[in-house]
Amino acid sequence: MKFNAIETALLDWSGDVLAIALSEENVELTGELAKLDEKLAGTLKELIEETEFEGKLGSGAVTRVGGGSAVRKIIVVGLGKAARSNDWRRGAATMARLAKQEKCQTVGVSVPVWNDDAASTVRAVVEGFELTLHQDTRFKSENDKGSSLETVDLLGFGGQDEAIDKSLKICSGTILARELVAAPANVIDPVTLAETAQSMATEYSLDLEILEKEDCEKLGMGAFLGVAQASDLPPKFVHLTYKPQGTPRKKLAIVGKGLTFDSGGLNLKTGGSGIETMKMDMGGAGATFGAAKAIAQLKPDVEVHFISAVTENMISGRAMHPGDILTASNGKTIEVNNTDAEGRLTLADALVFADKLGVDAIVDLATLTGACVVALGNSIAGLWSPDDDLAKALLSASERSGEKLWQMPLEDPYFELMKSLHADMKNTGSRAGGAITAALFLKQFVEKTPWAHLDIAAPVWTDKDNGYDNTGATGFGVRLLVDWVLS
Ligand code: BES
Ligand code: MN
Ligand code: ZN
Repeated sequence: MKFNAIETALLDWSGDVLAIALSEENVELTGELAKLDEKLAGTLKELIEETEFEGKLGSGAVTRVGGGSAVRKIIVVGLGKAARSNDWRRGAATMARLAKQEKCQTVGVSVPVWNDDAASTVRAVVEGFELTLHQDTRFKSENDKGSSLETVDLLGFGGQDEAIDKSLKICSGTILARELVAAPANVIDPVTLAETAQSMATEYSLDLEILEKEDCEKLGMGAFLGVAQASDLPPKFVHLTYKPQGTPRKKLAIVGKGLTFDSGGLNLKTGGSGIETMKMDMGGAGATFGAAKAIAQLKPDVEVHFISAVTENMISGRAMHPGDILTASNGKTIEVNNTDAEGRLTLADALVFADKLGVDAIVDLATLTGACVVALGNSIAGLWSPDDDLAKALLSASERSGEKLWQMPLEDPYFELMKSLHADMKNTGSRAGGAITAALFLKQFVEKTPWAHLDIAAPVWTDKDNGYDNTGATGFGVRLLVDWVLS
């Protein structure tokens, strides 16, 4: 699919289908739209009336245009209240689906500008088209026919070619994250995930360091290795680095939880606990490597480290016993009172590693707790940070990228719940505030760098179509991270 940002007015455009986005307040045809309707002998007005189109978010209608018109069909889609950038993603996704259904090849898109920000508008529209039409057919023996769409012209957005280019790169990273998360644990495991990082490093000239088990032992990564010890597959500590030419404006680290499968360990996940969905427990690593793919193509003047301690949480005679005491690479000791709280153990050593890099900020992403799903529901990630500036930067990246965050408290007194009789801390507190105590646990492993934690357990996956991400893996985090790195 080729996107073009062109100045052409919608009255002058010719092609298969003209797709027009209207907000709830704007279904009356005025100005250019009135002129278009006149030119089309009332077809637009008729379409709106006959389908009782009210501009509602997610709604859309299509009709054929009679006579030798320069356009064959017209699509109208609703932007609802036209407030958030996601309203544009949703509108564009509806256009894409209708254009595909109508077997169109060329689409002319007419949308208002979001928030006086033409570049973000273009990004939302490109993402709406690309990410809705992307289909993951890797594991099907027969492929569904793809879309016939070839050209998407963004009308009135002349000069926004860079925004198009940028969003296509972000989309390629989002699609990588989706594919990594959607791949089952017998396809993406610690070895194959490390191989993915290796081929990315080669393709995009990134620096790659993979710490093998022995290297991790030398660094004293007892928490990460404790989790890894029951797996038949070797753990891989992956560290990819993007370095710009010249002196970087700043240095950042992104750390992703990389559990290619989480059985729970001896605190085994039982029926109803979603054990069969735990291939997505590397969603943080997926977002991290997806962001690496986008950033390597975008080439900002920022140095970025992409880190994941990759393993699977399994059971065997070598498994951690509940009650074992582990020592992390900063010397702190942890009583593992629940082997299913494994993500924070792997992140502990990854955060200690990132903290030593001398970067200006660290953001970690993790499918960390069911408690965060309960707290914030299906589409919102939790954000914790002791650093207000970093939290603000992430929240504004969230506005533009449409990936939702909600800031949660780092309530220090709750750490009382994690006190252990014999070790420095336990790895779980009580059920109450489970996502908060998890964040407080992570905080013990960051000493000096501004840090933020994102619990993405909910939005990494969607069972219900939200209108612009397909069901399944969403690639959550890539759009947000790239926006944050570039800002
Ligand atoms: N990977 C899970 C968290 C999770 C749950 C992600 C549901 C996505 C959907 C994590 O390792 C885990 O098992 N967390 C436990 C923590 C508990 C033992 C304190 C949980 O949330 O139940
Ligand atoms: Mn777990
Ligand atoms: Zn887990």
